[in-house]
Parts: sequence; structure tokens; C-alpha cells
Amino acid sequence: MSDQTTTTVKRQSLHGQWSTRMAFILAVTGSAVGLGNIWKFPYIAGENGGGAFVLIYLLCVFVVGLPIMMSEILIGRRGRRNPVMTMKIVGEEEGRSRNWALVGIMGIIAGVLILSFYSVIAGWAMSYVFMTAGGTFVDTDASQVKSTFELLSGSWKLTAFWHTFFIVITVVVVAQGVQRGLERLVRILMPALLVLLLLLLVFSMNSGYFGQAVEFMFRPNFSALTPSGVLIALGHAFFTLSLGMGAVMAYGAYLPEGTSITSTSVIVVLADTGIALLAGLIIFPVVFANNLQSDAGPGLIFQTLPLAFGHMPGGVFFGTMFFVLLSFAAWTSSIGMIEPAVAWMTESKGIKRAVAASILGGFTWLIGFGTVFSWSLWKEKTFFQGTFFDNIDYLISNIALPLGGLMITIFAGWVMCRNSTSDELNCGTGLMYKSWRFLARYIAPIAVILVLIEAASGGIVSDYLSTIGN
Ligand code: TRP
Repeated sequence: MSDQTTTTVKRQSLHGQWSTRMAFILAVTGSAVGLGNIWKFPYIAGENGGGAFVLIYLLCVFVVGLPIMMSEILIGRRGRRNPVMTMKIVGEEEGRSRNWALVGIMGIIAGVLILSFYSVIAGWAMSYVFMTAGGTFVDTDASQVKSTFELLSGSWKLTAFWHTFFIVITVVVVAQGVQRGLERLVRILMPALLVLLLLLLVFSMNSGYFGQAVEFMFRPNFSALTPSGVLIALGHAFFTLSLGMGAVMAYGAYLPEGTSITSTSVIVVLADTGIALLAGLIIFPVVFANNLQSDAGPGLIFQTLPLAFGHMPGGVFFGTMFFVLLSFAAWTSSIGMIEPAVAWMTESKGIKRAVAASILGGFTWLIGFGTVFSWSLWKEKTFFQGTFFDNIDYLISNIALPLGGLMITIFAGWVMCRNSTSDELNCGTGLMYKSWRFLARYIAPIAVILVLIEAASGGIVSDYLSTIGN
């Protein structure tokens, strides 16, 4: 509770508030922890050579991600509306342009596009629940596990079935409203997921290849890192923390006055990073123990973890539990992806929540077929970055989210005045506030811009750095 008496009358959210600070932390963590941590992080770390990539990713998370997360939450709580209206209102209040609303609109589109492919992967995770429970992986070898995955991903009908199912359950929760739907779910799931990951870690530690995995993940070998790898690391920092598209902003709109944004953000970032690193430490020992390719791509967890489950005591049980929890983690994330769009349709367009959620769900479902077909009908139809999936992932993670994040940090650091942000962050004007402001104004924007230039030019920045290094 806030004991301050502020002179300005603060806006109220139109959808109620989180019941407690813990509820908010759980909701944001629920949105952050998902396929990004367990499915995506290990496979992109594997594709980009491990150690150096992981180091850059960690840097991006703490130096760029953390201040941007604080910025998103503070803007959201200030505006107390959906991201489009929030950016417009706060922009006007600060005596600047109302066109900042465009950032919100871009975010809404990005959210729908993310969900369109996310739901396909989440669908695979759900189908693995049943396969694992049915004993498909008991005593199998690497090639059988691989062909099981190829059978599923290569069948557009099966994949489409699970994609459809996942979209439906997402729409159902979103239709009920953020609080009722989400709080209950996340409170039990997050701790359960963590316990299970720790159990799996024990298995991996005993595999005999743990040391090799640690070395792969934490010994930086910069010659394995390409300019585009740096961009992928930055893009993933945004993706995994759900930043750059207004999701955290939408959640911040329901945050009670007086809750500390700084400590909340630190907790979320630490939890998210910890879970990603755990996932890597679980998966890579299995990769090395079975002589698998660390750069197997999006199928990596589906081709490695079943092997572990197939050979560990109680594997059917633990494996089933794992995919159940992974599906749930994906579910709590998917809700955040269309929450900005739903909040916008209900608040600004007067559409009923359930109707808005259904329209958006239907639209997302359709676009999702591009990803569904990426491993079957359209497998050979590659352009620019690869398949339809590769392109949509590239567009979102490596372009839209970093650009969105850049705008958001410029907005919080340069457009909003010092009084507004320090009032909202509620931490005085001491060192803590100064550090945030320095990161948000200078470090985060410059880092994003440099990485974008580096990737677009194929390495200009690192070439330049190495010439001044010599
Ligand atoms: N952070 C999620 C994950 O790691 C994915 C994600 C990206 C997301 N943007 C989002 C989730 C916006 C909710 C809202 O799986």
C-alpha cells in the first residue's frame, strides 16, 4: 500500500488490479518463462556455438533487458490502459506527440505474430505429453527419437490439430480476464516446473557429460560467434523477457500503486535467466552423451529430452510431468501475447472481452498455418532466412522486438520527464534511480542500435572494434 499523498489524481485501471505484489510477479514470470527458456534458448545457444553466445545473451538480459523491463512496467502503470492508449496518454501528458501510440500498435501486431508460431511449438509439447505417457520413448535410441519428432512435425494434420487445441485453451483463459484466469494458474505451476527441472538437473549431472556441457555453455569461444549471432542473443533477451511489444506494459497497468518496480523486475529477470540456464544444463549433457548435434535447431529438445526420459528410472512419469509443465508454461506465456490486443479492443473499441479474444484467436490460428506447414508442405519453400517459420521468428525476435524495446526505452528515458519516472519508480533520486536512467537513456538504446547496425552490415561494428583493439 502506498502511504504517499500525491497531488495528481492517479488513473485507475479499467480491469481491476493484481491482488498482491506476488500475484504480479507470478504473472510476469509466467509470461516470461516459457518455450523461450526451455525450447528456444538451448537450440539457439547450440546453433551459435555456446559460451560466447551465452555471455552476450546474459549481458543483453541485464544491461538492456532489465532497464527496459522497468521502463515498460512504469509506463504501463502510469498510463493504466492498454499499450496503445497508454503510450498516447502518457505521451500527451508529457507534452509530446500522441503518435507514440504507434509503438503500442506495433506491439499488438507483434504479439499476434508471436502467438501464431508459439502455439505450434506448444502444440508439439502437448502431443509429447501423450507420447511420453504412452511409453513411446522407453529404451529408444537417438535415431528413433529423431524419427518420432520428424513424424510429428512432418504431419501437418497432427501439428495443426495441436496448434488448434492450444489456441482454443489460450482464448478461453484470456476471455475470462487476466486476473481470474492467470493468478490461479501460475501460482502452482511455476514452483512445480522449477522442482522438476532441478530433478532433471540431477539426472544430467550424473550422466558423465555434465562437465562438457558446462564447458560448452560457459567457456566463451568468440570465433564461434557471428555478427548475426550477436543479434540473435539480443533478440532473445527481448523474447525471453516478453519485452518490446507491450506485454509487460499491459500487465503493469494492473499493478497497484506503491509496489516496487525495481525489485519486481530484478526478481523476474533472475528467475527467467535461471530457468534458461537450467534448461541448457539439462539438455547439453544429453546431447553430448548421445553424440547428437548441438545445432539441431528447433527440434533440439524434442530429440534430446525423450532420450533422457527413456533411460532414467521413473522416466515415463518424469517425462510426462515435464511435458505437462512445459505446456503449462507455454500456456501462461501465450496469454500475455494477446492480452495487449484484447485490452485494446475492449477499452478502445468497446468490444466484449470474450468476443475480442475469439476474433484475435481465430486470426492468429490462421496465420499459424504458415508455421504448421514449415516442416511439411512448405518445407522446401524457403526464402530470405529459410522457411515461413524461420522468417516470422526472425522478423519478430530480431527486428520487431528490438525496435519496440528501443522506442520504449527512448520514451521512458527521454520523452518522460525526470519527475514522472522517479515518481513511478518510487525509489527517490538516488543511485538506484540514476543507474536506471543512465541505462535507459544511453546504454540500452546505444546497445540496441549498435547490434542492429552490426547485423545489418555483417560485422562493421566488431571489425571496427578489433581495429582499435590492435
Ligand atoms: N517470454 C516468452 C517465452 O520465453 C515468450 C514471449 C515473447 C512472450 N513475447 C511475449 C510471452 C509477450 C508473453 C508476452 O516463452
